[in-house]
Amino acid sequence: MSYELDRILISEEDIQKRVRELAKEVLASIQSERLLVVAILKGSLYFLADLTRLLPPTCEIDFIQVSSYHGGKSSSGVVQIRKDLDQSIEGRDVLIVEDIVDSGITLQYLRKFLKTRKPKSVAVVSLLSKRQAKNIVLPLEFVGFEIPDEFVVGYGLDYGELYRGLPYIATLREV
Ligand code: IMP
Ligand code: MG
Repeated sequence: MSYELDRILISEEDIQKRVRELAKEVLASIQSERLLVVAILKGSLYFLADLTRLLPPTCEIDFIQVSSYHGGKSSSGVVQIRKDLDQSIEGRDVLIVEDIVDSGITLQYLRKFLKTRKPKSVAVVSLLSKRQAKNIVLPLEFVGFEIPDEFVVGYGLDYGELYRGLPYIATLREV
């Protein structure tokens, strides 16, 4: 089976507008002198770059990489840490930056995993979520867009490492 781009689901302009709003929401609710932003590689890369440019210059950034997809279109259900954080999060206010919440398995695992390291607080901002479409009950502090239960690419999100560089979010269709 192979895929090609189908239609634009969220335009570049709408993404940029929503990211500005999300930054304001984060700033209004997390009053931290030294916020530690934990970005989940690789899908959050553009979201991280745009969001953190709107946060105070004192916030720090670290990266974690997990895998649960193994290149396919649905989660394998098993989460593995492929790259751990470089620094301790003990006593820190942590903001996890995620590209998309689908089944929620990755995020649930990560929250538990990070909480064992005794951060002061953990909040999550995800650009996209399929929670409503899938009727998944899952805590999520900040969400950019609730989207339909469709596989999407662009603005960091990939299908088999392709399409990450698109400035918008698009769906795929089988060809
Ligand atoms: P979950 O564990 O099922 O919530 O999946 C979360 C991870 O799967 C995200 O961090 C993405 O990397 C990937 N993912 C889930 N849905 C999509 C999609 O529609 N497009 C691209 N990647 C996705
Ligand atoms: Mg991915």
